[in-house]
Amino acid sequence: MKDKVVLAYSGGLDTSVAIKWIAEKYDMDVITLSIDLGMERDFESIRQKALKVGAVKAQVMDARDTFINDYVFPALQADAIYEGQYTLATALARPLIAKLLVDTARQEGATAVAHGCTGKGNDQVRFDVSVAALAPQVRVIAPAREWGMTREETIEYAQRHGIPVSVTVASPYSIDENLWGKSIECGVLEDPWVEPPEEVFTWTKSPNEAPNEPCYVEIGFERGIPSSLDGHELSGIALVEKLNALAGEHGVGRIDHVENRLVGIKSREIYEAPAATVLLAAHLALEQMTLSKDQLRFKQKVAQEYADLIYNGLWFSALHRDLAAYVQSTQRHVSGTVKVKLFKGKSTVVGRKSPKSLYSYGLATYDEADEFDQSAAEGFIQIYGLPVKTQAQAQGMEPDK
Ligand code: ARG
Repeated sequence: MKDKVVLAYSGGLDTSVAIKWIAEKYDMDVITLSIDLGMERDFESIRQKALKVGAVKAQVMDARDTFINDYVFPALQADAIYEGQYTLATALARPLIAKLLVDTARQEGATAVAHGCTGKGNDQVRFDVSVAALAPQVRVIAPAREWGMTREETIEYAQRHGIPVSVTVASPYSIDENLWGKSIECGVLEDPWVEPPEEVFTWTKSPNEAPNEPCYVEIGFERGIPSSLDGHELSGIALVEKLNALAGEHGVGRIDHVENRLVGIKSREIYEAPAATVLLAAHLALEQMTLSKDQLRFKQKVAQEYADLIYNGLWFSALHRDLAAYVQSTQRHVSGTVKVKLFKGKSTVVGRKSPKSLYSYGLATYDEADEFDQSAAEGFIQIYGLPVKTQAQAQGMEPDK
């Protein structure tokens, strides 16, 4: 009996060629696993294609719910954004795909898992490290990293082996999509000076063509988890889908980022992430109202670490476990409603309210309802400024020339 390998299968050129290539090169039985994370694909025809190309078994799995609740929302609670721009859709999906590959390998008695990543990107790292963490004894095969074929040679290989090469192969762009966003690379985008052509955007309207009237949406949060839109309770999947459509219609969520890959390359990436853009801004606005100054300051540092570890493939790590526990603790009172205005490519938080708000009108107001004791400020400032005054008296405070 041959050894078995479970291959993450998208139905695209590389992973289709991989089915044949692994079977030939490694003499293994290939089982494919295609995972629905919210991209609109015909998974039944992807399954059929895998079998046609030579898989001994082809599985399809709907993992949207797990993706949103166990990966995306915890990252949202952490305010995770990589290098201030990338909302991490692709990076968040990889550890989940790795976990499902490992689970399937266990069920099928497979000794290896496989993915279609090249040797230049972050995704290979995320897969390999996740598998190493979850099942160190399972081997990882990465055909596209090993075979050394150019794109033309891959197409030739496919034709020689009767693997259907779809028209989408003609597209110069490399695209990865899930509910949290779309990542677009390659083609003219590799010149960081070139403005992304309108054709790369399929989730968002051009701000020029977006409605001339703004749209307001009220997002309800429970302990840092978005749970309603305009007062209607929604499941995580439905809420994200709805918000993707709504914000996308107003041109919100286009991101143009020259980012630092883990493997040392700077890479120009275009993202579309309408729901992620709106939810991250809304969530932060609610935290600004419900967390103390010190909590917010510290959480900001954690947010950066958290985003880095997601980007760098360390989802299944002890550091993540520890930081996640901290983030959960911070969300105890992050409940309330945020009002967001969507207009011509921009989303702006224009209102927020919470039963656990730390904002006090009586302390903040300048009108007669003022409860703040201004006379106490004088003594406070005397002590607060004491070390500055002492040092200036002893050492002088020459202005810099
Ligand atoms: N640069 C992004 C990341 O590292 C997106 C990668 C897109 N991946 C892909 N297979 N097209 O997460």
